[in-house]
Amino acid sequence: MQTVLITGGLSFIGHHITEFFIAKQYHVIIHYHSKKPVLKLNGSYELIQADFSNSESLNNFINQVFKKDIHILINNASIFQKSPISTWDLASLQNIFNINLFAPMLLSQTFIKQNIFSKNNEGLIINIIDIYADRLVKNIIPYSLSKNALKTFTLNLAKISGEYIRVNGISPGFVKEVDNKLLQKNIIKRNVKIEEIIQTIEFLLNNTAITGEVINVDCGLSLY
Ligand SMILES: NC(=O)c1ccc[n+]([C@@H]2O[C@H](COP(=O)([O-])OP(=O)(O)OC[C@H]3O[C@@H](n4cnc5c(N)ncnc54)[C@H](OP(=O)(O)O)[C@@H]3O)[C@@H](O)[C@H]2O)c1
Repeated sequence: MQTVLITGGLSFIGHHITEFFIAKQYHVIIHYHSKKPVLKLNGSYELIQADFSNSESLNNFINQVFKKDIHILINNASIFQKSPISTWDLASLQNIFNINLFAPMLLSQTFIKQNIFSKNNEGLIINIIDIYADRLVKNIIPYSLSKNALKTFTLNLAKISGEYIRVNGISPGFVKEVDNKLLQKNIIKRNVKIEEIIQTIEFLLNNTAITGEVINVDCGLSLY
């Protein structure tokens, strides 16, 4: 049985990713942060708590999860905060980068160490990014920058991960409900459906020729 680690695996999108891999008969290591898990999934899984803004918690988490062989890593956990320029300080900027960039980097580092000598091409990292990685919008500049760096990291990590590990990303547009004014920015005038994110994960899982790719699933928002 193959094992997948999903960070933020109980949240809105993460929960659906968890259900997808459970249905595919993977063993799922579900990371959660603050939400008390009330889960009844029909399959093989375990739950591990960690706060990625705290280096001790992140290190303990990495040491604990990588005792097992992990074949797929989904970096989904993230903090989204409105932070206008007047609110910036070093601690709050570092907090966003710790969770959105440094945690995925360190998890990827250990994943690659573990999988670099594997004899097949099953190793897969998928980073969940955001269409706003490519555009700095006034009140979310620190968030966008962290996602921009995660995107650059994704594209470049694929080059150094070795022959048997693929590294890809998905950049969603609006998945959560947003007001109608924002939706007008989509070429396709609706939210992205969760199933469309899951279909993209399945596509990246199955197509072993794809690495170093970030797929926008955004109803055309990035064209705005
Ligand atoms: N939803 C959208 O419309 C949308 C659009 C574009 C991109 N995305 C991206 O898609 C991914 C999932 O989005 P979502 O809407 O499902 O997000 P969400 O509901 O806000 O969930 C975020 C997850 O990150 C975890 N997290 C937050 N702070 C953490 C910390 N300090 N340490 C460890 N984990 C922490 C949360 O854990 P707790 O809840 O337990 O605190 C939660 O599981 C994110 O990477 C997001 O940037 C989402």
